[in-house]
Amino acid sequence: MKTMILYRSKHHGNTKKLVDAVTAAFPEVESIDVATLGKNEYPDLSDYPLVGVASGIYYGKIDADLSRVLSNVLHEGQQVFALMTYGGQDKWYGKDIDALCRMQRANFITSYGCLGFDTWGPYKLMGGVQKGHPTDEEIQGAVDHYQRLMDEYEDIFLEQHEQYKRRAAWAAAHPAGGLLADVKRTVKKIVGPRAGSKGSAEDSDE
Ligand SMILES: Cc1cc2nc3c(=O)[nH]c(=O)nc-3n(C[C@H](O)[C@H](O)[C@H](O)COP(=O)(O)O)c2cc1C
Repeated sequence: MKTMILYRSKHHGNTKKLVDAVTAAFPEVESIDVATLGKNEYPDLSDYPLVGVASGIYYGKIDADLSRVLSNVLHEGQQVFALMTYGGQDKWYGKDIDALCRMQRANFITSYGCLGFDTWGPYKLMGGVQKGHPTDEEIQGAVDHYQRLMDEYEDIFLEQHEQYKRRAAWAAAHPAGGLLADVKRTVKKIVGPRAGSKGSAEDSDE
């Protein structure tokens, strides 16, 4: 199953280690560093049943460019999972990904997170915190997490994607026709077909 991971790993490449391990273990998984995209360049994800979002945590949030890209590329019904690294202990940082998914009506399925070496601000003076993270075990944890996701949900992801493709094809074949057509359809629903109408093709497009 095709999966695309969009990522940003700007501090020490900690998150990239998770992404690289997953793409190495699963050849069907691709990745894009959003830093390589132009300001208005947004990849087409319509062929990907599953999208990964991977980021370090910066001031309690995922990377701002990654957020912008996500809000432009996620579509309704898209399945999303996250990979994260952070310097703080025992926190759940998926809330902004969750909010982005809700806005696009995408489904945020699951997230894997672990510590990452952190030399931000005052920590730099102490030589940084969380040295040695992510460890080999933590990196392997991301791979295992993806494997579990496939074992438990791959069939569902594929089925949902087929539905999305069918809906998209139908929408392309039946363009809504803009505001006037919407108004016409609504009026037709309220007053019903015109008296004496023989039921033109236009009347039966519901
Ligand atoms: C500017 C900046 C802000 C950060 N803010 C947080 C934070 O709010 N909470 C946290 O747990 N870690 C924070 N960190 C630590 C990073 O999330 C951590 O080092 C992460 O592994 C970086 O991932 P990367 O190397 O993939 O960019 C911050 C790091 C930087 C550089």
